[in-house]
Amino acid sequence: MKMSSLSWLVFILLLSQLSSASGGKILVFPLDGSHWVNMKVLIEELHAKGHQVTVVRASDSWYISEASPVYTSITIPYPGGFEDHFDVYLPQLLEIRLQSNPQSFWSRFWGQRQVDKLVLDLFFKFHKAVSELVIQMFEDKNLMESLHAAKYDVVLTDPGIGGGAMLARWLQIPLVNNVRWTIQGEAHFLLAPSPLAYIPFTATEFTDKMTFLQRVQNFLRYNAGMYVHSTITEPHYKPVVQRYFGPDVDYSTFFLDADIWLMRNDFIFEFPRPTMPNIVYMGGFQCKASKSLPDDLEKFVQSSGDHGVVIMTLGTLLGKLPQVVSEEIAAAFAQLPQKVIWRYMGQRPSNLGNNTLLVSWLPQNDLLGHPKTRVFVTHGGTNGVQEAIYHGIPVVGLPLFFDQPDNLSRVRAKGAAVIVDIATLNRQIFEEALMAVLYNSTYREKMQMLSRLHRDQPMKPLDQAVFWIEYVMRHKGAPHLRSQSHKMSWFVYNSLDVIAVLLIAVLLATFICVSILRFFWRIIFRREKVKHE
Ligand SMILES: *[C@@H]1O[C@H](CO)[C@@H](O)[C@H](O)[C@H]1NC(C)=O
Ligand SMILES: *[C@@H]1O[C@H](CO)[C@@H](O)[C@H](O)[C@H]1NC(C)=O
Ligand SMILES: *[C@@H]1O[C@H](CO)[C@@H](O)[C@H](O)[C@H]1NC(C)=O
Repeated sequence: MKMSSLSWLVFILLLSQLSSASGGKILVFPLDGSHWVNMKVLIEELHAKGHQVTVVRASDSWYISEASPVYTSITIPYPGGFEDHFDVYLPQLLEIRLQSNPQSFWSRFWGQRQVDKLVLDLFFKFHKAVSELVIQMFEDKNLMESLHAAKYDVVLTDPGIGGGAMLARWLQIPLVNNVRWTIQGEAHFLLAPSPLAYIPFTATEFTDKMTFLQRVQNFLRYNAGMYVHSTITEPHYKPVVQRYFGPDVDYSTFFLDADIWLMRNDFIFEFPRPTMPNIVYMGGFQCKASKSLPDDLEKFVQSSGDHGVVIMTLGTLLGKLPQVVSEEIAAAFAQLPQKVIWRYMGQRPSNLGNNTLLVSWLPQNDLLGHPKTRVFVTHGGTNGVQEAIYHGIPVVGLPLFFDQPDNLSRVRAKGAAVIVDIATLNRQIFEEALMAVLYNSTYREKMQMLSRLHRDQPMKPLDQAVFWIEYVMRHKGAPHLRSQSHKMSWFVYNSLDVIAVLLIAVLLATFICVSILRFFWRIIFRREKVKHE
C-alpha cells in the first residue's frame, strides 16, 4: 500500500516535470533553398527538445517537404518557382565569371557589372515572389484565424525574406531571426555601429586592415550597396507593410524588430566588430562529429596510403563546369600522388587520372572528419567553410558568387586557405595551389588552430541557439535587449541635432563676447580721443 502510493507520487511528480518541460509552439517561416538546410538543423533540435514546430511553405517548395517527422506544415498555394530562377541564372553567372579577365581592370569592372545586374535581377524576382506569397497568406482569412487561434509562442524566421517579421507582428508574438542576410544586406550593418574604417563591406574581399584606397572603395561600395538593397526590396515589401500594418509604418525598420538575432557568423574567421546584446553567435551550429564512411569509399580512401586524399565539391547548386575548366582541374589532380574524391555531375573529363574518383554525392562532413583527408577544394558555400574549420582541413578555394569570395578571403586572411580565381584557372595554377596547401604545413597548422579555437566554447553553438529561442518563449520576448537605435532618424542617431544646437550656442556666445569687447573698446577709445582733444 505504502509502496504504491509512493510510486503514484513519483508518477505524478514525473508527469508535472514532463508538462513543465514540455515545449512551446514555434511557427517557422523559412527561406527555401540552401538556407532551409540550416534551418532544418535547428528545427530538428527544437523537436528533440519537445517543442511543437509548424512550418509555413509554398505549395511548390523546392527543398521544404510537406510531410516530416519533426514538424507539421502549412502549405500556401503559390507557385514560387525559386528553383527555376536559380537554374536559369547560375550558368549565366558562371559564364560571365569565366569570361572576365582579372588582369584587366575594365574587363573585371564590366564583368562585375554584369554579375551585379543578374544577381539583382534574381533577387528582385525572388522578393517579388515572396511578397506575393505573403499577400496570399494574409488574404486567406481562415488561415490567419487559425494561426491566431493556435497561440504560437514565437515566430522563427530567416530575415533574408520579409514574411516572418510580418507574421510575428500580425500575431503579436516574439520574433527570433536565424540570420546571415536580411532583406537589406548583412545584418550587422543594420543593427550595430559599423565603422567603415575597419569593417569591410560585403563582397569587397577586404580585411580589417585596409589601405586608404581600399577604404575609399569600401565607403563607396557601402553606400551604393545600401541604396541598391532598398531598390530591390522596397517596391515589394513597402506596399505589403502599408496595406496590412498601416500607412505610417516605416517598411525599412519594420524588419529590425526581432527579439533575438541568431547569427550564423563565427569570429574565429571573421573580423572583430561592434555588436548588440540581442545578437547571439551560433556559427558552426551545424557541425557535428563525422561518422564512418560507406565501405567502398572507405576502401578508396585507405588505398591512398600515407599521401591521403583531396576532396572537391562546388556545392549542390553547381554540379557542372564547362568542359575546358573541368579538364584543367582533372589534369592537375592526375599529377598528384594523393587520391581525389570529386563531386561532379557533368561529362566525365577525358583526361581524368586513375587516382580520381567522380561521385554525384559525397558525405562531406564524414570525409572532412576522416584522418586521411589533406585538402578540401570548395566554393566557400553554406557549410563547407565551417565544416572545414571544425575538422581543421586547409582549403583551396574556388569562389563563384554571392558571399563565397568574402567567406574564403577571410579564411585566407587567417592563413588557412589559397584562393584560385576560376577565370584564370589552368592546370599549373591549380596544381600549384594544391601543392602549396598539401606540402606547406603552415596552412594545416593555421586551420587546426582555428579548429581548436572554434571548439573551445562554454556551450555548443546549437545549444546556445536553442537556449535563446526557449528564453524568448519563457519571457515572452526580450525587449530589454533591443536597442532603440533603429527607431531614430539618422540625424538623431548621429547626434547631428545636438551638434547643431551646440554649434549655435558656441557661435552665439562668441558673438556676444565679441560684441561686449567691441562695446568696451569703443568706450575706452572715445575717452582717449576726448583726453587728447
Ligand atoms: C595509374 O596511372 C599511373 C601514371 O599514369 C600509372 O603509373 C599507374 O600504373 C596507374 N595505376 C593503375 C592502377 O592503373
Ligand atoms: C559563408 O559562410 C557563412 C558562415 O559559414 C555561411 O553562413 C554562409 O552561408 C556562407 N556563404 C555562402 C554563399 O554559402
Ligand atoms: C608556406 O606558406 C607561407 C604562407 O603563404 C609562406 O610564408 C611560406 O614561405 C611558405 N613556406 C614554404 C617553405 O614555401
